Amino acid sequence: MLDELPEPIVQAPMAGGGSTPELVAAVSNAGGLGFLAAGYLTADTVRDQLARTRELTAEPFGLNVFVPERSGVDAAAVAEYAERLRAEAERYGVPLGDPVGGDDDWDAKLDVLYEANVPVVSFTFGCPSREVIAEVKGHGSLVLVTVTSADEAREAVAAGADGLCVQGQEAGAHRGTFANEGIDHTGLIPLLRKVSAAVDVPLVATGGLSGGADVAAVLAAGAVAAQLGTMFLPCPESGANPLHLAALAAGDVPTAVTRAFTGRPARGLVNRFLTAHSGAAPAAYPQVHQLTRDLRRAGDQEAMSLWAGQSYEFARPLPAAELVRELATGARSALAAAARRWPA
Ligand SMILES: Cc1cc2nc3c(=O)[nH]c(=O)nc-3n(C[C@H](O)[C@H](O)[C@H](O)COP(=O)(O)O)c2cc1C
Repeated sequence: MLDELPEPIVQAPMAGGGSTPELVAAVSNAGGLGFLAAGYLTADTVRDQLARTRELTAEPFGLNVFVPERSGVDAAAVAEYAERLRAEAERYGVPLGDPVGGDDDWDAKLDVLYEANVPVVSFTFGCPSREVIAEVKGHGSLVLVTVTSADEAREAVAAGADGLCVQGQEAGAHRGTFANEGIDHTGLIPLLRKVSAAVDVPLVATGGLSGGADVAAVLAAGAVAAQLGTMFLPCPESGANPLHLAALAAGDVPTAVTRAFTGRPARGLVNRFLTAHSGAAPAAYPQVHQLTRDLRRAGDQEAMSLWAGQSYEFARPLPAAELVRELATGARSALAAAARRWPA
């Protein structure tokens, strides 16, 4: 199915508002593959978004779900981090959240998947069990698992994944690693090589891609499609926060990977909060995510999680269909130009 897409362009699932039914449908209607993001939403909201997306497109699209954490959490480290953030809470006049755990409504979201027969389902933050993957496939969905290393790729394929989303360290927002510690920070091109050598399933490449030539590069490296996130954030159909978009448009700071906002490594624009707390944040997701909830919503760009991939400065507010067309045309021209420069 992935190799039959009219354009080999996937709009990354973006939890936190980015992925709207309007964005997903615009991408799928343009020949790419749009992705809804179930993360942080209730199962009922996901059901509503699926219904709305189906009103807007008859083309295939995807739904992404967070796999519950399997690593334990050091409660004392979370308490120590909460103590450290007390001054931030006072600064913004907001409370710190209750650092509870949670599985993002895993069982209820699986029920939605089973009843909705979504064409493509992708998982991140872990690999579901063989049984869950078999059940999702049994309901007619193609199953992708996000991986960041060859070992994760082997585990996902052994569990029955139809394909993999290969996420390089250049990617915006959370690393999709199965465990919260011992993160592999390999870049996308070397990772594609390592994963291709380890398994034989279709690969979707993601992380730091920003233009047609980048799409061409990952197709040449063996991927069946390129997945882009940050580039779709400023599209008018996206639901990204305007303060986030303004920071991306300013384009004047580097990105870094941090646990400061959520307790899981994620790439965002360097701001005051990231600089002040990255060194102290524990590996505790979703506890830290809960703790910082109101701080992140206080309306100050210096305390927001401004997720961004390494090429974020190239993001522009193009309609999503236009962006898909531009990426596809650019990829074809880049491949043709390379063949001309170095004829067979
Ligand atoms: C704002 C934002 C939210 C994201 N949310 C999710 C998500 O819910 N699920 C997921 O699998 N990936 C998520 N990602 C990561 C993307 O799937 C993808 O790996 C990443 O966007 C690729 O890097 P790029 O942003 O440089 O294109 C998110 C990325 C961004 C920028």
